Amino acid sequence: MIVTTAELFRLAYGKYAVGAYNINNMEQALGLFKGHMDAEAPFIIQISKGARKYAGIPMIEAIIRAADQMFPQAIYAVHLDHGDEATCYACIDSGFYSSVMIDASHEPFEQNVAITRRVVERAHAKGLSVEAELGMLGGVEEDISVDEKHTMLTDPLEAKTFVERSGCDSLAVAIGTSHGAYKFKGQQSLHFDRIAAIQQQLPGYPMVMHGSSSVPQDEVARINAAGGALDPSARGVDDNEFKRAASLGVTKVNIDTDGRLVWTRVHREYFQQHPAEFDFRKPGAVYVDEYAKFIVHKSNKLGSAGQLEGVRTALAK
Ligand code: G3H
Ligand code: 13P
Ligand code: ZN
Repeated sequence: MIVTTAELFRLAYGKYAVGAYNINNMEQALGLFKGHMDAEAPFIIQISKGARKYAGIPMIEAIIRAADQMFPQAIYAVHLDHGDEATCYACIDSGFYSSVMIDASHEPFEQNVAITRRVVERAHAKGLSVEAELGMLGGVEEDISVDEKHTMLTDPLEAKTFVERSGCDSLAVAIGTSHGAYKFKGQQSLHFDRIAAIQQQLPGYPMVMHGSSSVPQDEVARINAAGGALDPSARGVDDNEFKRAASLGVTKVNIDTDGRLVWTRVHREYFQQHPAEFDFRKPGAVYVDEYAKFIVHKSNKLGSAGQLEGVRTALAK
């Protein structure tokens, strides 16, 4: 059952974070739904512009509708990830989405406010909520000082002004994470002081953490042992930190890269071990199971595992 993102946030805020996962194909959808049923967790499906282009808009939506029929107990929201203004409007008008993200974080502050405000007006008129972004998520393997790093993080006072002026319903904040498989070298941690400072300015307001993949070292090692060439020193977010972040108002945690690593590991290992095989359904089925297990693991780390029946009861009232 597709529900609004706002309802999921209202029930989760301060208690646990809802996992938001990108999908591009059928196997990801099957693993995603199966994993969340096994974990008894609510979740958010994210569709990026790239996914809309790769699968085709009718196809990606049909995959989700089909999964909904196969897993009638699932409770989830459908969200546009990193949208531009035109894509936000297309998703708002489609009637399929629960919420959209307008990512104008690369624009100057005033422009970001103005663009976000326009999207909020269109979305709210149709009952959708809007995620916006303020601050700069780190790039790939940046060689920058701690001071420079701090200036890229979301400024708490600016965040308050931004939310008041734009009317956005949740905010993606720069708190030390970055997208992709190459996040940080050495020890890396979330900036909890910054999360707490933003929460102080915006009490009860949902923050979104992008770039939340963990890039597990054992996963990278298995991919490389099976012929891959990923940087073995890559590090991501320690998922043991999710619950602390959730208690400080991080209500949505975006994970994409880790799921891609599961896919890559399963397929590399499968074809290495079965060099004469060409029935792609065999590794496909292994991947669905492995991705479902991965989702159960993440749901436990997020604290969303076991919350499904409580959410169902609350929504029925
Ligand atoms: O943050 C971006 C997500 O990982 C989606 O990636 O644009 O390659 O689909 P994508
Ligand atoms: P990762 O690259 O860390 O999985 O982040 C995904 C994300 O933020 C999608 O919006
Ligand atoms: Zn993102």
